[in-house]
Amino acid sequence: MTQRKSFGSDNHAGAHPAVLQAMLEANSGDAVAYGADKWTALASAELRQAFRCEGEVFFVFTGGGANILGLSALLSRHGAVICAESAHINTDECGSAERLVGTKLLQVPAPDGKLTPELIAQRLPGSRDEHFSQPGLVALTQSTEFGTCYSLEELRKVYDFCHASGLLVYIDGARLSNAAATLDCDLGDIAECADVLSFGGTKNGAVGAEALIVMRPDTVGSVLYLRKQQTQLASKMRFVAAQFSALMQDGLWRKNAGHANAMARRLADGLHDVPGVSIAYPVQANAVFAQVPPRQIEALQRDWIFETWGESKSLVRWMAAFDTPPADVDAFLADIHATADS
Ligand SMILES: Cc1ncc(COP(=O)(O)O)c(C=O)c1O
Repeated sequence: MTQRKSFGSDNHAGAHPAVLQAMLEANSGDAVAYGADKWTALASAELRQAFRCEGEVFFVFTGGGANILGLSALLSRHGAVICAESAHINTDECGSAERLVGTKLLQVPAPDGKLTPELIAQRLPGSRDEHFSQPGLVALTQSTEFGTCYSLEELRKVYDFCHASGLLVYIDGARLSNAAATLDCDLGDIAECADVLSFGGTKNGAVGAEALIVMRPDTVGSVLYLRKQQTQLASKMRFVAAQFSALMQDGLWRKNAGHANAMARRLADGLHDVPGVSIAYPVQANAVFAQVPPRQIEALQRDWIFETWGESKSLVRWMAAFDTPPADVDAFLADIHATADS
């Protein structure tokens, strides 16, 4: 029997064959190290064009690494970060923003993972008082940790509000491709609403490749040096860069993300008539969060890999990936129906 798909994480997926092929093709003879190679030049140019970036692109290994680099690129020594309580930098990065960047995270409860000008404004009293942490930037996640997605209009409102309030904007784009596929927009349309943002390759079919997009030349400043200090400068950069060229080729990134999103939608659509199961957040990317009776979760986890979320024993996160087969979604749905309360 072929192995069933995990619904635990888009990180459980393997790599897309085109990505592996691109790495194989980059494995031809010697190339100068640390990014002075033709693959890095090509992928940087492709990403700069796609993001309408006038600054620079910096390849790194991990999403957490991109976040740390992005925050440290934008923050002053005394700057603090406003973010949603649910932000990955707050909940899942082992305190690296605090430890490695040396900043304070000013969290805001955001019920669907999305910040608004009103929520950000809650954290502004105290600005320009030396006794308080001084917000320097706002960190958003697109698509969010709850599988929701900012519309372009919502992003624009946040960006304009932030800039009018003297705050810069960082977007954690570990799943930016899922958002762009949902919004049916260019990567550049989202990037217009950020000063610096990350672009995740790993969850989209790469092996371990993320990019930090620094939108304007005046912000590039010290990122070159910070990346090295933060141990994210790849000596054999060509293999990271080649993965991005593969994803950019013929819009593979959008196809992969679109498929993952469609599989999450298929799963969500099949849940409507399951007694005792309800969808917890709008399904706008490749994640389905659902309330499920704990007894049923236990039964399903005998055959399927997925996680309960946060402290709740009844909230689950089901993730689809670029290679999730529709048949596995249907088989999973059949088991959800079979184990439901009658
Ligand atoms: C929203 C978000 N940002 C960043 C990351 C970090 O990525 P990595 O595990 O590659 O450090 C993740 C990983 O799951 C994520 O979901």
